[in-house]
Amino acid sequence: MPLPKAELHLHIEGTLEPELAFRLAARNGVELPYPDTDALREAYRFKDLQSFLNLYYELMAVLRTEQDFEELADAYLARAAAQGVRHAEIFFDPQAHIARGVPMATVVDGLWRALGRSVENHGISTRLIMCFLRDESADSALETLEAARPHLGRITGIGLDSAEVGHPPAKFREVYAAAADLGLRRVAHAGEEGPPAYITEALDVLGVERVDHGLRCMEDPDLVARLVRERIPLTLCPLSNVRLRAVDVLAEHPLPAMLDAGLLCTVNSDDPAYFGGYADDNFRAVADTLGLSEERLRELARNSFLASFLEDDEELRARYLAEVAAYEFG
Ligand code: HPA
Ligand code: ZN
Repeated sequence: MPLPKAELHLHIEGTLEPELAFRLAARNGVELPYPDTDALREAYRFKDLQSFLNLYYELMAVLRTEQDFEELADAYLARAAAQGVRHAEIFFDPQAHIARGVPMATVVDGLWRALGRSVENHGISTRLIMCFLRDESADSALETLEAARPHLGRITGIGLDSAEVGHPPAKFREVYAAAADLGLRRVAHAGEEGPPAYITEALDVLGVERVDHGLRCMEDPDLVARLVRERIPLTLCPLSNVRLRAVDVLAEHPLPAMLDAGLLCTVNSDDPAYFGGYADDNFRAVADTLGLSEERLRELARNSFLASFLEDDEELRARYLAEVAAYEFG
């Protein structure tokens, strides 16, 4: 049995496996510019974030109906359960769907058909986090928050993703303030490809409670000290960092140094269909390649529940933490 863990950095659209993409393409009469799944997998060679995003947005064309989103989420939850995930805070990118004529309601209701039954079907509690695309305008983000209003009972928080460099967090000051007024939790991708200053800005201007990636904080010792002092969680995605060339090789990943510095790190899969592994695959990769001890791995699992947005169910968080404490490594 894998170590019990929460997954806090997971784009549901990034769980679209080639086989499901082709099945949905056939069902929806969508033509994919690849002859078969092998040819599609061949395209999974990324030189940076943008080269990945191009394919990520292209393949979304197959997602059209509530049933498509349900099947996508259900397939992720089944895989996650097998990898020890007990709680998942799941990102989705509504602007990428609305732009293709797929309404917000189709996306949220479709995802909810799977998430609403996830505890019974997969033993995984879930939360939804709606991300804004930072390479779209601030007005578009505000319109998206407006479109989400009827669905806020199902949405726990907001995030910020897509192409980072050139789109600093401050661009989204207004929509983050509006979301805070609505009682939404706030996270943002920062310091994946962008500079450490973007992490500081996400904290100071957007009021984020957790930083997605945050890898480049290591270039700024004062920022590291602040993140440690304020107990700001970082949702790291080691296999993603290798595939998108944020680090050269996994052996050079700064995770051990980050843990030694006292940062509240978590390990996540980001876009597992594209980056070669789900949650426990990431845990096993860092355990093997970076030589993390069992106690370090237990710390990462504990951190994942401490960093999760379970303030609305502290009893559940306590149960998960007890599972981590009682876990026996095989
Ligand atoms: N970074 C930014 N945007 C994204 C990512 C990511 O890793 N995955 C999906 N959208
Ligand atoms: Zn991400």
